Amino acid sequence: MEFEKDILCIGAGYVGGPTMAVIADRCPHYRVTVVDIDEDRIRAWNSDRLPIYEPGLDEVVARARGRNLFFSTALEDGIRNSDIIFVSVNTPTKTFGQGAGRAADLQYWEKTARQILRNAESHKIIVEKSTLPVRTAAAMERILNAAPDGPRFDVVSNPEFLAEGTAVRDLESPDRVLVGSRETPEGVQARKAVVEIYANWVSRERILESNIWSSELSKLTANAFLAQRISSINSISALCEKTNAVIDEVAYAIGTDSRIGSKFLKASVGFGGSCFKKDILNLVYICENYGLEEVARYWESVVRINEWQEKRFVRNILSNLFDTVAGKRVALFGFAFKANTGDTRESPAIYVARGLLEERARLVITDPKALGNARAVLADVDGNVSFEEDPYKAAEGAHAIAVLTEWDLYRGLDYERIYRSMVSPAFIFDGRNILDHQKLYEIGFNVFAIGKAPLKHFK
Ligand code: NAD
Ligand code: UGA
Repeated sequence: MEFEKDILCIGAGYVGGPTMAVIADRCPHYRVTVVDIDEDRIRAWNSDRLPIYEPGLDEVVARARGRNLFFSTALEDGIRNSDIIFVSVNTPTKTFGQGAGRAADLQYWEKTARQILRNAESHKIIVEKSTLPVRTAAAMERILNAAPDGPRFDVVSNPEFLAEGTAVRDLESPDRVLVGSRETPEGVQARKAVVEIYANWVSRERILESNIWSSELSKLTANAFLAQRISSINSISALCEKTNAVIDEVAYAIGTDSRIGSKFLKASVGFGGSCFKKDILNLVYICENYGLEEVARYWESVVRINEWQEKRFVRNILSNLFDTVAGKRVALFGFAFKANTGDTRESPAIYVARGLLEERARLVITDPKALGNARAVLADVDGNVSFEEDPYKAAEGAHAIAVLTEWDLYRGLDYERIYRSMVSPAFIFDGRNILDHQKLYEIGFNVFAIGKAPLKHFK
């Protein structure tokens, strides 16, 4: 069958996989190929056990795979045969050299640009899907247009705003799609070609067009603003704990002001995920590079408050367990950085687990989807840590439970049964404020929530 467009995506991760699956599902008239250097990942995308857990993703992939959606490691062929190339490789925080710990590590990005240059035989539109520092497109253009007699490349920025756990829904009905390009006739034409893809299922007024730098910078800014709301509410949660104000009530009261809005005001043990911290630190680094010290410090504080919130949570467990957890069994309910994903990247649970292990606690970790990643992430620790599918078994013989991921499953457990199986006095630290604290207190637990006075059976 002849396809109207041949789309390639380089990078079959949390973004590349779901995004291309939804494009293929919604556009049967396009051929969509997703390539990756990671053979295991591609094998998993071609199997019944996809490499990532996302609600609804199995169904989308099942409809399109083999029809017009293909996963492969054949990068060179993919580049040659495509008109539009989305680049969705990882852009983690640099761990070495200049900018270590803050700047984005663009090595995977640059390698991809060079692979495209080596293999392309005709004009291509290159779409920046990864999250990148503002002005990356200029570097991309410089690399791609290095060969004077080679084909022309147009670089377009199309940042992704999906959140894990709701990726399919976010992709199918996005608040907006952003497409930025150079304002030249070729740039605008390339932008229109990308807009045309989304227009297959997204209404035209939700597709925003802008200049390429605005598009790149909007992505970092969106993440910074979202994370800032969490750090703001988390900072107030600490004040609530001192004053008997209740953080959920405060969040509700301020969120009903339509100028503030109700979303992203859920106090927690801290924000995690692969992007907020790395993107804000990248923004900080960019500001420093432009000599904007005050702006850099302003955004850096969003990350610092988050680290402080995680640290506060561990300190709270320690001090309430009579200043020692050595040898005590502590059950962590949830390890994913949020519910409905198996992803544990930058999960606050990692910090909490390591903090408690340093204090020589005996940890048992339970999570419905993230145990595999939890095992990998804690592979280097030589402390006493075990993994348990069943939360009831995890809690057996424990002194304390810490809820670290807001899985629905944890709301509906039989806490009387859990209480009976634990060591007395039993403690619950609800890092997600999802449980019925009064009820737990009446069962006999000592209950510590975020942004609420503790409910204790002792002074
Ligand atoms: P990921 O690590 O899950 O996936 C990236 C993939 O790219 C990996 O499978 C890796 O093997 C592959 N890759 C790297 N270099 C390659 C190369 N030269 N050729 C082929 N494949 C290569 O990362 P992710 O979470 O999908 O994020 C990708 C980008 O999207 C990042 O810039 C991230 O900031 C951004 N982003 C992520 C999310 C999210 O929710 N995870 C949301 C929006 C934007
Ligand atoms: C976030 C953004 O929401 C996406 O728009 C963006 O595309 C993505 O980063 C990215 O660039 O990677 P994600 O990290 O997948 O998405 O998940 P979020 O729902 O934003 O949650 C991030 C963290 O904040 C989680 O740990 C979550 O539990 C926490 N959170 C979120 C809170 O503590 N309180 C809230 O009110 C909301």
